[in-house]
Amino acid sequence: MITGTTKIYGIIADPIKQVRTPEVFNKYFKENDIDAVLVPINVAESDLSQVVEGLKAIRNLGGFIVTVPHKTNIVPLCDELGKAGEMVGSVNTIRRDPDGRLIGNMFDGLGFVGGLRSQGYEPAGKKVLLLGAGGAASAIAFALAEAGVSTLAIANRTKRKAQQITERVAKRYPDLTLLVAESDPKGYQIIINSTSLGMNPDDQLPIAFPENLTPEMIVADIIMKPETTALLEVAEKHGCLIHYGRHMLDQQIKLMARFLDVGEQ
Ligand code: ATR
Repeated sequence: MITGTTKIYGIIADPIKQVRTPEVFNKYFKENDIDAVLVPINVAESDLSQVVEGLKAIRNLGGFIVTVPHKTNIVPLCDELGKAGEMVGSVNTIRRDPDGRLIGNMFDGLGFVGGLRSQGYEPAGKKVLLLGAGGAASAIAFALAEAGVSTLAIANRTKRKAQQITERVAKRYPDLTLLVAESDPKGYQIIINSTSLGMNPDDQLPIAFPENLTPEMIVADIIMKPETTALLEVAEKHGCLIHYGRHMLDQQIKLMARFLDVGEQ
């Protein structure tokens, strides 16, 4: 029940119809008896700054989540950034403090690493192959570096983007072995798909040489639907440990809720 005491949260996106955040958060609020609601807010890229300026003045607004296409454009509109947001250069969660200040942070990467750990997989000291070099990959790369992986190799269709991520991560983590690689799993202990390959049934696999998958490898996907992507299916056939996309989302929700200060977690 929404009452006069209910705290408001939002998710800002364009388009908005596909977002799952309201379902996930409102279920979370209900299950934990939290007096809050999260509503979808459809804002065009060109209107973002005007909307955010107005949101600052809403005194019962606890904060908001942002997704496509606002994750980078929102950064200069924040008054302060958390460490992950500052490193990655984009944010997906913004808290509104009681004085109206907006504090942004990025939980894609922390959610992924938290998800791995929630399943008993520790990335510290491991040789990791990250497939993809988009927004999610960038956040995951910084989080893996922070988690202490020994090698981080990035493979991407557009090599230049993989190169850019390695250069940015190298500035922060000069001792980490970073390289642009081919999408060959041979020699890696953790393989992560952050490309969109696997969402559609006729997509090619995000790795070349699936025959190089071996039983001791952990193969992770960040795709949520289908739950078992073609990559995870082939990895399972080769006896690998497989890790689903939902683990990242589950951990992200917890981290976002804590950051947004929604109450009992
Ligand atoms: P997200 O925010 O989810 O990371 P994104 O920034 O659009 O989304 O990144 C999509 C990733 O999937 C990129 O690594 C992209 O490769 P390019 O950088 O070469 O575009 C990858 N990707 C998407 N479609 C692909 C395809 N058909 N083949 C190979 N890689 C693909």
